[in-house]
Amino acid sequence: MTDAKDISRGVAAMETGGARGWPADAKTAGGHAEQRAEKFFEFRDVSKAFDDHAVLKDVTFSVKRGETCVIMGRSGVGKSVSLKHIMGFMKADSGRIFVDGEDVTDFSEQQFEEVRRKVTMVFQSGALFDSLTVAENIAFPLEKQPGLEDQDIDAYVTKLAKMLEVEEVLDKLPGELSTGMRRAVAMARAFAQNPDAILFDEPTTMVDPIMAAHMGDLILRLKDAFHRTSIVVTHDTHLAKKLADTVVFLQEGRVAFFGPWDDFENSKDPFLHNFRMQDALIPALDVTL
Ligand SMILES: Nc1ncnc2c1ncn2[C@@H]1O[C@H](COP(=O)(O)OP(=O)(O)OP(=O)(O)O)[C@@H](O)[C@H]1O
Ligand SMILES: [Mg+2]
Repeated sequence: MTDAKDISRGVAAMETGGARGWPADAKTAGGHAEQRAEKFFEFRDVSKAFDDHAVLKDVTFSVKRGETCVIMGRSGVGKSVSLKHIMGFMKADSGRIFVDGEDVTDFSEQQFEEVRRKVTMVFQSGALFDSLTVAENIAFPLEKQPGLEDQDIDAYVTKLAKMLEVEEVLDKLPGELSTGMRRAVAMARAFAQNPDAILFDEPTTMVDPIMAAHMGDLILRLKDAFHRTSIVVTHDTHLAKKLADTVVFLQEGRVAFFGPWDDFENSKDPFLHNFRMQDALIPALDVTL
């Protein structure tokens, strides 16, 4: 878990070693790596219905520590619902959910507070504090850390802002920013918490294709720099191709595909093929702004 020493070390490492700031190395330096579960997230036969509407049906998949899993599928198939189960905002009707080797299925709200310190979620809206500036929003998770010096916080906020290309707007309020910028700030704030894992829900929707490609690049940059376990929910195949180590494809509540990206891309399954073809009609504007 994050502590002040971890943060100082992260900032120092960023000063000297570029982007590899917070890194897995700082976290594993204590030598506990060998005791950690290889699978960071696991769904075992998870089912969830709302009244008589079955949304998830025996959903099984796992995400290895340090990997990025992309959950894809048509609108309403249960992608966001899956993320909400991990965060403890929803409870499964049956099946088990594991986070960092722990069975969290029957966790209390209090126990989930601990899970939410390890795993942060970046919401579509950004969910920023409207009355705080961008800098204050990013600093927010750091200020709760006892013993952290102001200069450490400032240094880290500056580094994250640069990485996410929001350093020009540090003094603005979220209401003054575009959707894409707000999302970038939300990502910076999520990383300031130094979580073990991050969940992104539709990071490229509601922005134009150029901004969507840019958001994808930012997430890729964070992936390369921090090596955090992540789940990215999207129907954007361009984004998925950029980020995915593995893919979960949901169809009518079931896992129609779970495996490496390359296998997904080469799958001959007509439904998957059709999905990829339709999405490919939307242009990939793979430009770095
Ligand atoms: N709190 C809720 N109460 C009742 N039904 C819900 C609730 N949350 C989600 N659902 C239903 O569960 C289904 C899956 O919702 P979910 O939000 O996971 O879809 P999604 O795959 O994320 O879709 P999109 O791509 O549009 O975001 C939908 O039919 C939705 O109406
Ligand atoms: Mg959704």
